[in-house]
Amino acid sequence: MRAAYATTAKPDEPLAALTVGDLPDPAVPEGWVTVDVRASSLNHHDLWSLRGVGLPGDRLPMVLGCDAAGVDADGNEVVVYPVVPDDKDPRGLSLLSERYPGTLAERVAVPPENLLPKPAGLSFPDAACLPTAWLTAYHMLVTRGRVDEAESVLVQGAGGGVATAAVVLAHAMGKRVYATSREPWKRDRIAELGATALENGGRLPERVDVVIESVGAPTFDHSMKSSKPGARIVVCGATGGHQATVDLRRVFAMRLEILGATMGTADELRALLDFVVGHDIRPVIDSTFGFTAVSDAFARLNSGEVFGKVVIDHLH
Ligand SMILES: NC(=O)c1ccc[n+]([C@@H]2O[C@H](COP(=O)([O-])OP(=O)(O)OC[C@H]3O[C@@H](n4cnc5c(N)ncnc54)[C@H](OP(=O)(O)O)[C@@H]3O)[C@@H](O)[C@H]2O)c1
Repeated sequence: MRAAYATTAKPDEPLAALTVGDLPDPAVPEGWVTVDVRASSLNHHDLWSLRGVGLPGDRLPMVLGCDAAGVDADGNEVVVYPVVPDDKDPRGLSLLSERYPGTLAERVAVPPENLLPKPAGLSFPDAACLPTAWLTAYHMLVTRGRVDEAESVLVQGAGGGVATAAVVLAHAMGKRVYATSREPWKRDRIAELGATALENGGRLPERVDVVIESVGAPTFDHSMKSSKPGARIVVCGATGGHQATVDLRRVFAMRLEILGATMGTADELRALLDFVVGHDIRPVIDSTFGFTAVSDAFARLNSGEVFGKVVIDHLH
């Protein structure tokens, strides 16, 4: 089957570690099923894998990709939940493409309980945007951030998949949403999605209840300074650097909660699918590439010029 996979680790040049070519079908562990992938989407996770982060050399070659929507062996249209049990991992789980082959291929193997019905109103490309970035944003807002108790949300780094999802979801939940970006054009785009857009480090008109952090070191101090007493700063990533400076006086004086978040549960993905359909939301898509141009899709993601999700159409 054709696949996009990592053959080596290139910490400074991730695109050079990407191979597109033929691989055998994925091994199917006992009790698992296969899905014919119709659409997938890229995540920063795929670039980390190509850099060798979280993907040791003894697991190569490894098919990349966490997100997919497709058709199961019985002809059902499904969304793939990408977190699988993994007793060799200290977390007890891993994401597709970490130990088990990922979704950037014609077929992917998963436990049957990882298949959720694709809502009829969602296209394969739209559905393929939701299982990683959108699920993470939903989990950060609803479960970790307790956004139902909140009136206001700050989202750092407006262009990323997690950030655009968080802005759309928080706005649909009726919250006042602020979002930062270094780029004027991204600030214009995020404002169209319902956020008040600010430059990085810009002063907000109020302190917020919840901060969605995926940028890390460059924005973390601003996240803390923009937080109300008792606010939740929820961290799912550190694209801009993972060694943030934390002023502990602010943490205790303002009673801040700094919370880690990784993905979400299958039930949360089900709830997200219902929320998206119920509110007539469609994921923010930056660009769509046929599988034959999957290398260009990676280059696009790596450019930093992305606004929303980069989608792969597996039928082309
Ligand atoms: N834990 C999980 O389960 C999980 C799930 C999904 C993603 N993640 C992680 O979350 C992060 C976000 O991923 P993503 O795919 O949504 O987006 P992304 O492509 O990593 O970009 C996020 C934003 O970071 C900002 N940024 C990047 N470098 C920066 C720098 N040096 N200074 C300031 N801002 C910078 C950019 O904002 P502007 O250009 O607008 O300023 C960019 O739009 C990644 O690290 C990813 O691995 C984790």
